[in-house]
Amino acid sequence: METTIKKQENKASLEQMNIVVIGHVDHGKSTVVGRLLADTNSLPKGKLEDVKDRCRRSARPFEYAFLLDALKDEQSQGITIDSARCFFKSKKRSYIIIDAPGHIEFLKNMISGAARAEAAVLVIDAKEGVQENSRRHGYLLSILGVKQVLVLVNKLDLVDYSQQKFEAIRDEYSDFLKQINTVPLGFVPVSARDGVNIVGDSPKTSWYNGNSLLDLLDSFAKEPKPVDMPLRLPLQDVYKFTEQGDDRRVFAGRVETGKIRCGDEVVFLPSGKKSKVSSIEAFNADKKDISVAGESMGITLEKQIYVQSGEVMCRSDQVVAQVASQIKVNIFWMGNQPMIKGKRYKLKLATSRVPVWLRSVENVLDASDLTTDTTKQQIERHDVAECIIETVKPLAFDLTQEIAQMGRFVIIDNYEIAGGGVILDKVDTRRDRIDDRVEQRERNWERSNITPSMREARNKQRSTLVLVTGEVDTGKIDFAKALEQEFFESGRQVYYLGLSNSLLGIDPGIDIAGERDEQIRRLGEISHLFTDAGIILITSLSDADDFEVDMIKKLNQPSDCVVVNVGQNRFVTSKVDLQLETLDNIPHAIARVGEHLKKKEYLVEYHL
Ligand code: GTP
Ligand code: MG
Repeated sequence: METTIKKQENKASLEQMNIVVIGHVDHGKSTVVGRLLADTNSLPKGKLEDVKDRCRRSARPFEYAFLLDALKDEQSQGITIDSARCFFKSKKRSYIIIDAPGHIEFLKNMISGAARAEAAVLVIDAKEGVQENSRRHGYLLSILGVKQVLVLVNKLDLVDYSQQKFEAIRDEYSDFLKQINTVPLGFVPVSARDGVNIVGDSPKTSWYNGNSLLDLLDSFAKEPKPVDMPLRLPLQDVYKFTEQGDDRRVFAGRVETGKIRCGDEVVFLPSGKKSKVSSIEAFNADKKDISVAGESMGITLEKQIYVQSGEVMCRSDQVVAQVASQIKVNIFWMGNQPMIKGKRYKLKLATSRVPVWLRSVENVLDASDLTTDTTKQQIERHDVAECIIETVKPLAFDLTQEIAQMGRFVIIDNYEIAGGGVILDKVDTRRDRIDDRVEQRERNWERSNITPSMREARNKQRSTLVLVTGEVDTGKIDFAKALEQEFFESGRQVYYLGLSNSLLGIDPGIDIAGERDEQIRRLGEISHLFTDAGIILITSLSDADDFEVDMIKKLNQPSDCVVVNVGQNRFVTSKVDLQLETLDNIPHAIARVGEHLKKKEYLVEYHL
């Protein structure tokens, strides 16, 4: 018992560093990791013998890379953990090493995982020399901001430990790295198979007077902890507790950067909603006064506000995250299909996931030879492109050079990661996709001989959309139908449109069921048809936010939209034309809408 406690203390006091091993296929990444584990005595007792034994029995030559598979089998019996992650220790610190079989795994780890590499070991086969992927991976490291890089020229045994071969590869590859502003910490001639220069030096490379891999790893500088940066707390979940008749919400997430204290004034982005931290609740632990980068916890707020997972909590007294719906990015594309304009993708940044579109391509770089093409308008597999992407709604982020953790993202195409990238800049623009569509629609709209004013004159009404918003289960739909009935009976041209009706009649091959923005876009387009026909259209939309209402308003142009909100007003900007606290008295609520529409001259009583 005592010894285990002591062991844990030791472990805790050792500094930890995350390292990724990358390189072209078969250049020896897994062998390097296996060697490091074996030669630093980091394997479970008997493991090495065990694997060697198994090889002997099946008459297979032993490989150090098998050690990783053996560990993987063991680990996967427990909870699911990243199977390519290994642990070893030097005298100086403990390491988590990620064996990245390809760049997809590498990007996944870099962008989404907790194990973000602080440094990288790039492996090049001495016999095969620098390959396209060696260059691509080097470039990836540079755009992802991994500045500490060590290059291993491996399998030197296959070239008779030739100094000349080693130097040729070193010169070629350092030239490449120079072009992308990366200065490696060093080049090490190794043979992972024979354990040359992995841990300790070797007589086989007497011409090399540099350090071994392990010593060089120890000379990597530890990145400062991100606690001193401004607070960024991406919301993972919002838990609602109502058991005591209250409406308490706990906002859960992991502090990416900075620190948060009880009493801090916070702002959530992109919504811009503000409140004050009331308590910090750790899981299975006592309440705390402060929480810092790297910790996961829940927060309760003094004033209850409605924010969803994906928003980023910042402190009002610090520089807050940026918000935009168009960003200039550097994308590394790995999809089988090229990234094209007009197609819907998903972008995942911290805890947010939003639909995105490629808006324009500024230039495309071939990362293997660093040539650029400024004419290409789509992004092919393995291309690195500087481009502008547009998110369906404003996104909260930071530029990669300011807060790297909040400036990296992956692009998902068809449920799979197809690209990754970093945010270079925010694009200030007033025009978005919806503006483009409306403009195009207006330009191409086939107009009849009946003008809107002719319809107005005959219908004794000016068409508008009446959008009833508010929380779910407030009786909005019944109210909207009653409103339609009342107007109908008093002779108005009116129609109630159920949101779900607007989704019917679509080709079953097009799945928009889970895509709320697409549903709302369709609602906006249908509204436009009805209002263009001179009708007062009534519809209800639960939990609408500012952006959604803006989108509907834009699409419904040139007719107006009257927003009637029921219950709590969750909009950040002034969106509501008429506020109804409850719908307890429907006739009264109807009368208020009627008055409003008359006052704003949608309902004309006497038309001359
Ligand atoms: P992938 O994960 O498939 O990309 O390969 P990898 O880069 O992890 O390579 P791995 O470690 O599996 O090694 C590939 C082959 O190269 C294996 O057969 C190894 O035995 C061999 N190899 C690795 N290092 C050395 C070395 O230093 N010398 C020699 N001769 N062979 C090596
Ligand atoms: Mg491997």
